[in-house]
Amino acid sequence: MSHTPILIVHGGAWAIPDDMLEAHEQGVFDALQTGYSLLELGASATDAVEAAVTKLEDDTTFDAGRGSFLTRDGRVQLDALLMDGGTMRAGGVACVERLRNPIQAARLVLDRSPHIYFVGQGAEEFAAAHGMPLIDNSELVLDRERERLALAQSNERAGLPDLTFAGPTFADDKSPETAAPPLDSHDTVGAVALDQHGNIAAGTSTGGTLNKDPGRVGDSSLIGCGCYADNQSAAVSLTGWGEPIMKLVLGKWATDRVQLGRSPEQVAPEAISYLHKRLGGHGGIILLGRDGRYGLAHNTPRMAWGICTPDGPRTGTRIE
Ligand code: GLY
Repeated sequence: MSHTPILIVHGGAWAIPDDMLEAHEQGVFDALQTGYSLLELGASATDAVEAAVTKLEDDTTFDAGRGSFLTRDGRVQLDALLMDGGTMRAGGVACVERLRNPIQAARLVLDRSPHIYFVGQGAEEFAAAHGMPLIDNSELVLDRERERLALAQSNERAGLPDLTFAGPTFADDKSPETAAPPLDSHDTVGAVALDQHGNIAAGTSTGGTLNKDPGRVGDSSLIGCGCYADNQSAAVSLTGWGEPIMKLVLGKWATDRVQLGRSPEQVAPEAISYLHKRLGGHGGIILLGRDGRYGLAHNTPRMAWGICTPDGPRTGTRIE
């Protein structure tokens, strides 16, 4: 039986500035066009997700691939995961510095390795051994991001309070991970798809948080945290402040609820509400069931999103 294909993408949940709204909407629109044209031709959900995320990584608007936020020492360090819900195959890479498209390296891991996850130099060498060019890290770094990092570090030195975080302040809790990063310091891209064959897939890619310590890995590339897909439940991609999402294994939390019979439309806002209530986290989610039902939610001021069905594409920068 042929299923109606659906592709949903996000370009990060954060305080997207007004002057970047148009670029975000255009970017998610372009990613939809790229991925959905494949689904229409009968391609797999995994192919469509990989293509859509590649398009988002190539767009310097987003914190993924070239143009990503910089580490504390001024480098780009990328994480990505791709998961095929039909086969439960997955591929992840983290802390890669010499790959333009980490989602494509994740695809190589998914297709060609008995392992699931590679980090750093080992990930780069695996990708190179399977034909991906290695580039100099400076090719991924934009002046815009050097300036953004310099500002963040000068604010940090000046001890300026974070005025952009609208969640709980945890005034009595001094543990380091409860110090929420500002809402302008992280972003991520992702996609979930249902193909004509009835299979679902998910992918997430990120440059992580601004001014992160080298070697830090966030939620995006960790199975069940920022990304997950299983034909028996749902496909999910998350964006936002990675540490709380990781501690709650929030992607799996959400897909488990779909498996128990709840609709993605209900579960998506519940997941974001749980993230906030339990750990003061902030972020966004796209969640797609195998029956084509879906849900999107965020508790950040904005989230760039796009959905494509046979009725055509829709995009936005806020879910009302
Ligand atoms: N959600 C992206 C990160 O925290 O790395």
